[in-house]
Amino acid sequence: MTTLFTSRRKFLTTAAGGLSLGLTSMAATKRAAFAVQPMLRAATADSVPIPYGAAVRAGALASDAAYRAAIASICQIIVPEGEMKWSDIHPSRGEYRFENADALVDFARQSHIEIRGHTLAWYGALPAWTSELADRAEAERELVDHIETVVSRYRGAIPSWDVVNEPLVDWPVDKFSLRPSIWMKRLGAEYLPIALRTTAAVDPDTRLVLNEYDLEFSGARFAARRRALVQLLRWLRERDVPLHAVGLQAHLVAGRSIDRDGLQALLAEIVDLRLDVLITELDVVDYELPGKIGERDGLVAALAARFLGAVCEVVRPKAILTWGLTDRYSWVPTYFKRADGMPNRPLPLDAEFKPKPLFDVIEEYRRKSV
Ligand code: XIL
Repeated sequence: MTTLFTSRRKFLTTAAGGLSLGLTSMAATKRAAFAVQPMLRAATADSVPIPYGAAVRAGALASDAAYRAAIASICQIIVPEGEMKWSDIHPSRGEYRFENADALVDFARQSHIEIRGHTLAWYGALPAWTSELADRAEAERELVDHIETVVSRYRGAIPSWDVVNEPLVDWPVDKFSLRPSIWMKRLGAEYLPIALRTTAAVDPDTRLVLNEYDLEFSGARFAARRRALVQLLRWLRERDVPLHAVGLQAHLVAGRSIDRDGLQALLAEIVDLRLDVLITELDVVDYELPGKIGERDGLVAALAARFLGAVCEVVRPKAILTWGLTDRYSWVPTYFKRADGMPNRPLPLDAEFKPKPLFDVIEEYRRKSV
């Protein structure tokens, strides 16, 4: 198939020399998991490990063969880190650019892995032209047109969409403490039902996910976020708005502690609303951790273990995705650079594709069931 990695074995013995048994079995379960499609829906049997995936970059996939091989052999799911966001896919009014998103969908198909969509209704990555949307009718028309165009293009190829991303303000008072954006300005909270209903109408088979961050930590702000999220989910449910799952981004900031009880209470509410749970963007923001690599990698893994342990006691996530696979390509250094100048190490593989303790922790919890 590929020239560089004609087989997984070759990958295992070259780029990722030190890979543990975990990876071998992960590759094996990838084949097993494919017996049931689509994976995000079917992985309920405890014998099948929770599907693992990572956010990917089209540019790096095209230019870095080792990265491409690592993604194809380790991941059962990919999600575009930016290529399906508004600014990439819809840079000016009436102009859609699908090359990069198409390339990722093709890559997933060729690699026999699944691809999730990210994202349709978000305050971030909005191209400048959207700020000109003058009134309610125009905003609704453009939001609906965007979702119809993008979701219909990938109908059948994308079984799960982060339709709504990060709807809450940092410190919400209640469910209507929604983050300012052109959608909020013109449509108010109605933008959520509009986005979800439009996606469901265009692709009735895709799973609709509301994705949110900062839900797992101790402290008043995080408790407020959990409360507001539950209220928002109930509000959507009361109005019969279609929604299938909540995505916990899980950008775990080292130095904060996991509020086990608070997180588990949130998950119980989500389960009670008959919604699935996905872990969508796991990584560990390590900028304030000690520099020493062995120590740092241990602390990173321990924080992820506390989080995954709390989650998996209440619910079996439909998928666990990290926001990147290798420290070679991560958003963390852009936003959370270390003061000591040392590279960040937020992801399961290091920059040379060697698995770190975080990789083993994810492997362990993929195999745990409630
Ligand atoms: C980030 C990307 O990783 C960066 O490359 C980009 O510059 C900004 O967006 N939550 C999300 C993701 O839902 O879309 C964000 O991705 C990270 C935080």
